[in-house]
Amino acid sequence: MRILLTGGSGQLARALQGAFADRDLACLDHAALDLADPAALAAALRAHRPQVVLNAGAHTGVDLCETQPDLAFRVNAEAVGHLAEGCAASGALLVQVSTDYVFDGLATRPYREADPTGPATVYGRTKLEGEVRARRAPRHLIVRTGWLFEAWGRNFLRTMLRAAGEGRSLRVVADQRGTPTSCRALARQLRLAVDGGWEGLVHATCGGETTWHGFAAEIFRQRGLNPDLTACATADYPAAAPRPAYSVLCNAHRRSLGADAMPDWEEALAEVLADPLLDAPSRSPEA
Ligand SMILES: NC(=O)c1ccc[n+]([C@@H]2O[C@H](COP(=O)([O-])OP(=O)(O)OC[C@H]3O[C@@H](n4cnc5c(N)ncnc54)[C@H](OP(=O)(O)O)[C@@H]3O)[C@@H](O)[C@H]2O)c1
Repeated sequence: MRILLTGGSGQLARALQGAFADRDLACLDHAALDLADPAALAAALRAHRPQVVLNAGAHTGVDLCETQPDLAFRVNAEAVGHLAEGCAASGALLVQVSTDYVFDGLATRPYREADPTGPATVYGRTKLEGEVRARRAPRHLIVRTGWLFEAWGRNFLRTMLRAAGEGRSLRVVADQRGTPTSCRALARQLRLAVDGGWEGLVHATCGGETTWHGFAAEIFRQRGLNPDLTACATADYPAAAPRPAYSVLCNAHRRSLGADAMPDWEEALAEVLADPLLDAPSRSPEA
């Protein structure tokens, strides 16, 4: 099975490389394949003739998207349409990774796949349009996830550990709820999904829920650190893009489809904290 992976240097893409390591996988990073370039997308599909496209590339800068809406639309929506049309022509499966940001964040129970969407940000609106366009591929799997972290890449876990290591006081919001999800757990689930022939729309996060403050506290508890950590409110940190107050996704549909490769978030955190790569020197300041 030939697989094409986009956004190849991102945190999820790196985990996907591991999960599909025994497959014929072409991993193209931003420099090798610019999702904003339709001609480059067509050329990549022609060159690699994938049977599965894993689209892990996206304009993920939630605040930046507010000031770069055209670029966000090209990368998060139009590119998905081009990939879907290519997959439609060849019969390939398109796996599109989407986000909790497609919802309004006002729910009081976990969002199900059929719940109404209502994105409040450019990022969320462009990702939702990406879902719409992914459906142009007759064989598509749209996977909504949230709060991704890993031992590598740009994420909250690494930011917290760096800040604690520098002896900084930390104020972390305690009024946004979601489910921290390790990229490796999601990648393992995506491997099972592809092998199992899943199609359609599915929510995929780890189990449980917490706040960013709760996540930070558990990181430090498991790591045996005791930094100066205090809770604050979203309103204390005005940002260009509003953050959803409630981002928990319901995983019942995913669990009904087959094996559950996604543990509770605390267990996923322990697995990542035990990874020696977490303490390895960064390959770049952002890596
Ligand atoms: N992070 C989360 O908490 C989260 C939550 C829900 C859903 N998701 C979704 O999960 C997927 C993976 O996200 P992630 O956390 O792995 O994000 P990430 O680490 O920021 O990776 C995204 C990758 O996309 C690449 N990219 C950006 N613009 C591109 C372009 N024009 N052409 C080609 N590649 C481009 C980036 O490359 P450069 O850095 O070199 O530009 C980066 O390697 C995305 O679809 C995202 O929307 C993420």
